[in-house]
Amino acid sequence: MKQIGFVMAVLAGMMFSCTGEKDQELVSDQLKTELSDQLKTLVQVIPDDKVPHSFPGHNAEYGMVDYHGWTSGFPAGSFWYMYELTGDEYWKGVAIENTVKLEKAQYLTNTHDLGFMIYCSYGNGFRITGNEDYKQVIIQASESLISRFNPVVGCIRSWDFGSWQFPVIIDNMMNLEMLFWASKVTGDPKYRDVAISHADVTLEHHFRDDMSSFHVVSYDTITGNPIEKQTHQGLDDESAWARGQAWGFYGYTVCYRETGDEKYLEAAERIGDLILENLPEDKVLYWDFDDPAIPNAERDASAAAIAASAFFELSTYSEKGDIYLEVANKMIESLSSAQYRATGGENGGFLLKHCVGHKPANREIDVALNYADYYYLEALKRQKDLKK
Ligand code: GLY
Repeated sequence: MKQIGFVMAVLAGMMFSCTGEKDQELVSDQLKTELSDQLKTLVQVIPDDKVPHSFPGHNAEYGMVDYHGWTSGFPAGSFWYMYELTGDEYWKGVAIENTVKLEKAQYLTNTHDLGFMIYCSYGNGFRITGNEDYKQVIIQASESLISRFNPVVGCIRSWDFGSWQFPVIIDNMMNLEMLFWASKVTGDPKYRDVAISHADVTLEHHFRDDMSSFHVVSYDTITGNPIEKQTHQGLDDESAWARGQAWGFYGYTVCYRETGDEKYLEAAERIGDLILENLPEDKVLYWDFDDPAIPNAERDASAAAIAASAFFELSTYSEKGDIYLEVANKMIESLSSAQYRATGGENGGFLLKHCVGHKPANREIDVALNYADYYYLEALKRQKDLKK
């Protein structure tokens, strides 16, 4: 099983990293037109030095971020996916503009979010165009990211704010894909070694017996032991914050693709099964699985989009692939329905409605968020690739 599974993972990795004319034929013309029209409304409000993060914004019509923001890479990534899905050169132009404005982010060493920021923007740009300048930016960003690795803890430090000694958040699993890529293109194993260490330590300390995960684990930098396990964006320290479960799920699916290590496949399957157990009828996740207000609690369409994308990929590796594929298709069907997907320029031009950013801070509750759109488009592309 191990050998077969890994060969499938390598093939699927190639599939998930290739583009082709077939993509364009497999997306219905109506959907392509609606996605394009909707996102063109968003493009009209993009300033030269920022990208749209949310609608409505916290204190403004739109939330906008510059290259420092953790979500700065998602609009460019969405526009790259739109270029792949439609073949329309307009989207290539918009993708390039919103990629190159992030160039300075490659040197940031005060954030762990460089995978989100650089790999979703420059990474997709390089995958699609082969532009050598983009490649150098991604390598530099990987160098900046591994500067945050602490060998005693065995992890990349997530945040520099707060009173934690060495905080690591489950979201950090999403920044490892860029490190695997960097080792492949440079031939230097140091990026991959960091990614594997981070994934292993996180697997040991971030998960409860039922495979739900804590949001934040803080470590002692002298002993390397975990000292605090908490939430920051979930309901409470012991709850299962939906997006955190989706980040971990996606992250371990990538780790299996990149290493063939069965323990990552098992982790991804167990997290996927936990998500399945907590899905409502329409398969769009409640923002936190433990909110006592369920079934009246808010949904988080961003968590559903991330999970759908990962379910498509995991379906190609797992013996339970049929179950995972079915749920991914249902998630996309729901997210594509009028209940969750905006048309006609409403929702500020973002695609998905009903996301939750940071409920405990009373911010971004039931809004549009740029990462929901990014993972929705990625999931649509994966769905089309699987139909080929
Ligand atoms: N901290 C990133 C997120 O909101 O998922």
